[in-house]
Amino acid sequence: MNETLLDELLQEYEAYAPRSGALQVRARHHLVDGGSHAIRLTPPFPPRIKDARGACVYDEDDHKIVDFWQGHFANILGHSPQVVNAVLADAFNRGFGLQTGFTDLLQIEVAEKLCAQTGTQAVRFTTSGTLATQYAIMLARGYTHKELVMKVGGGWHGGHVWGLSGVKFVPGAGYKQPEARSARAALNYATLQTDFNDLDQLQKHFRKYGNRLACFILEPVVGSGGFIPATRAYLAAARELTQYYGVVLIFDEVITGFRFRAGDVGELYGVKPDLMTLGKIIGGGMPVAAVAGKREILDLAGSGHPSRAWFSGGTYSGHPASMLAARAMIDYLVTHEKQVYPYIAALGQTARAAISEAFISEGIYAVCTGNSPDLPDSSLFNLVFPFLPETIINGPQHVNDPQVCDLSLKALLHPGLLLQDVYILDGKGSITLAHAEAHVKICADACRQLARRIKQSVKVKNRQ
Ligand SMILES: Cc1ncc(COP(=O)(O)O)c(C=O)c1O
Repeated sequence: MNETLLDELLQEYEAYAPRSGALQVRARHHLVDGGSHAIRLTPPFPPRIKDARGACVYDEDDHKIVDFWQGHFANILGHSPQVVNAVLADAFNRGFGLQTGFTDLLQIEVAEKLCAQTGTQAVRFTTSGTLATQYAIMLARGYTHKELVMKVGGGWHGGHVWGLSGVKFVPGAGYKQPEARSARAALNYATLQTDFNDLDQLQKHFRKYGNRLACFILEPVVGSGGFIPATRAYLAAARELTQYYGVVLIFDEVITGFRFRAGDVGELYGVKPDLMTLGKIIGGGMPVAAVAGKREILDLAGSGHPSRAWFSGGTYSGHPASMLAARAMIDYLVTHEKQVYPYIAALGQTARAAISEAFISEGIYAVCTGNSPDLPDSSLFNLVFPFLPETIINGPQHVNDPQVCDLSLKALLHPGLLLQDVYILDGKGSITLAHAEAHVKICADACRQLARRIKQSVKVKNRQ
């Protein structure tokens, strides 16, 4: 029944955004599917954005869209914050900011700040979260002289051969299958999936494979898999087991780094990984990512190391404009930590309550994940529709299981809300410093309208 409504919404969007539609036709001539990143290319076509400020983006059809996706969750201060813009504008006006090919003071400063804020000893920069997690895994394999990589089923670490394993839920089989042909073919890149927050399974996997494991990589708050925080017990067990079996513990903090405090979220759990990967927020809107952690592991990236892991190169690594933006963003978050994080966490709580209530009040059971008793203060929300109210939603294995949550309702969210000038990605959103209660209200009202429409369409269907 939701398919009919989905078709209706998609057709309405085609009429609602004709310029974006025409640009999609043009885009498809030379861009695969009309763009360069699959999740941006939402059906029937994405809104083509021409301006972005604060909480909103503006599309070619002149819609002002309240945006909770915020640059793949990178924009913690909202779009185009003056804190970063002013620094870049000033540098470019002076004629500095493009790649020089040399190294500079900026990189030293950003490295010092990152290490200080994350309690790490060393850092190396790269340009994307994908590269950071790939390099962290290479370092772990070089360091341990072991090959097997364990990750969380449904955890997203980027599109490399290890990361592409177990990202798609297969009903009946869970996350056991690597989907990417390239990953399947490359036996050398063997990965093992484990269910998030499942302590028993984790212990079993360590007992069985611990001696073959190079690393266990996980997000302390699983991101694309549903914005679900790990329990304290789970992260503590991950730390204990990795230490016992000589396995490198990697926290992928590409989303969580500087999202919950001016540093890593691992600190709030009292758990220190061996390596962490950072990206998104630390770049202040520019492409910056990093691997940080223990010196003795990062040293493997050094050219003189006998077990060298080739974490090197990258024409644009440590790019001056990126480092300028990173320095400005990190400085701002450190000096305004006490204002930024309580504000976005409180509004996050309002958003989770208002959005789920908008559906519940119309008779559609919904839950917003994003925080937990072990991590109560969170600016993230993810809307899910469990079939049974008592269901525990503990990881991607629940969020993406069509037996547990109504995924057909989730599919309606994107077009249903975009038609009301609200953007949340696949039910997921983040609060930034640029959002106010009014933006959250717009989102909750749009959810209520959509819920009414869903109810209406069920009634019509039942009459047929
Ligand atoms: C947790 C996590 N790790 C890694 C990545 C990959 O980062 P990037 O898209 O910058 O390559 C992402 C991207 O969304 C992510 O969410």
